[in-house]
Amino acid sequence: MENPVVVIGSGIAGLNFALKAAKFRKVVVLTKMELKESATFYAQGGIASVINPEDSFESHIKDTIKAGANHNKIEAVELIINEGPKAVADLIEYGVDFQRAEKGVLALTREGGHSANRIVYVGDYTGKEVEKALIAKLRECKNVKIIEYTQALDLKVAGNGVAGVWYEVEGKICFIASNEVVLATGGIGQLYEHTTNPKVLTGDGIAMALRAGAETEDMEFVQFHPTVFMQSSSGNPFLISEAVRGEGAYLVDLNENRFVDELFSRDIVARAIFEKLKTGSVYLDCRHMKQFGLRFPTIEKELQLSGLDVRKDLIPVVPAAHYLCGGIKTDLNGCTNVAGLYAIGECACTGLHGANRLASNSLLEGAVISNKLAEFLQDKKAEVIVKTVADESLYSPVFEYIEADILSLQKLMLAKVGIVRSMEELREMQKYIVEQLKKVKMTKAVSSAANWEYYNMLQVGLEIVKAALKRDESLGCHFID
Ligand code: FAD
Ligand code: SIN
Repeated sequence: MENPVVVIGSGIAGLNFALKAAKFRKVVVLTKMELKESATFYAQGGIASVINPEDSFESHIKDTIKAGANHNKIEAVELIINEGPKAVADLIEYGVDFQRAEKGVLALTREGGHSANRIVYVGDYTGKEVEKALIAKLRECKNVKIIEYTQALDLKVAGNGVAGVWYEVEGKICFIASNEVVLATGGIGQLYEHTTNPKVLTGDGIAMALRAGAETEDMEFVQFHPTVFMQSSSGNPFLISEAVRGEGAYLVDLNENRFVDELFSRDIVARAIFEKLKTGSVYLDCRHMKQFGLRFPTIEKELQLSGLDVRKDLIPVVPAAHYLCGGIKTDLNGCTNVAGLYAIGECACTGLHGANRLASNSLLEGAVISNKLAEFLQDKKAEVIVKTVADESLYSPVFEYIEADILSLQKLMLAKVGIVRSMEELREMQKYIVEQLKKVKMTKAVSSAANWEYYNMLQVGLEIVKAALKRDESLGCHFID
């Protein structure tokens, strides 16, 4: 394909953008595993939007800014919330069959920090349905080439413009020339030992953007989800949706006493649990929720497989790294400061979330800003900023003890750059990462996707730590002891 728009990532942001852009451009989608594998696929709670006539945009805006500790950019908050209903309507048109209440109106649930029921959902598997619908539509598009099981490694920049993407398929490095590259690579959860994020989310897009000269913003604000079940039969941490608390579950300590308002915003609930865990376990109590299995079938099944019966047993939970509120700095069309480089979804920072994201505002942002970028590019003629020819030469990083080093990084990030931080520990972490980065050897001979992932994790980890060190007072989910 000649000079296509290259989209890296196939969550809600990448897929929704690709679908809309395919109407007027050739599009190539690169994705690390099969198309559906993304944070989007695992989203349970739903998408926040003002749907109920008794709700109001003002109220959603107010809740978003309160959760974000007033650090939000008001233009981003207003635009994204005002465009929410249209984004939800588009998803319905694409085939997402959101839950309906009486008389066919959209059913709405609630999560922490929201002052109204305003979250559209499909059972406890909203993200799976969103991915299914977007993928089915995308596969019908003639203008779209999908390359699965590939890892974008680095961006080629010439002058101040993007000129292409290096990617690896089955150990071979390939290059695609493009002057319009969209990063939709999601979050950074895998930098932490405990995370809700799938394995593909190692901050690659943010690291590539940094190397290309893009700016980041609000990187210190890493949100921990309060209720994650760590003893899942799959071996992976399993999220217990905030909607479970929204529909009435309690958080209790060892003595079965409630200790925090379950619907406070996530940063507050996560810190309350973190403190309780110093002296014992914390549980979700759903025993009184008679319709649990009907409303949360995936969660019930997962817990059953792990030997727990929600009608009789308490569910042990811990907080885990969940969402990066900051990211690659963009305007409200997804433009970065590098010509031709765009960022949308969780890897980007529009300013919507401020210092702490309000529940279910992320899928919303991914859908709205991907629409905006598609509209922006439609108005802008495809132009060749920098001509490039096929170029397969790329220096790749090499590490000696990669598996052990990744585990150490994840443990240290959790211990020193987690829910409660200290300046001293942040400085120690900065020193550790800088030392690890000094060990990197760049070579032309070898490329390995795992080496690039670890390199990206180190660079993004350093960016988080540096941002955290610049903020010596607590704000939102950056809490300094
Ligand atoms: P993602 O959906 O994460 O997709 C990123 C894509 O980039 C993936 O396809 C990945 O393979 C690809 N990728 C990454 N690096 C590379 C690379 N180097 N090369 C090629 N491809 C690459 N938010 C809500 O609003 N509501 C919810 O109910 C909700 N529930 C959640 C539940 C869980 C368990 C998790 C983890 C998150 C949840 N969130 C929720 C947050 C939300 O799901 C994410 O923020 C959102 O889905 C991000 O969408 P995205 O398109 O930006 O990225
Ligand atoms: C959840 O279902 O608890 C996750 C919602 C979100 O991250 O917005």
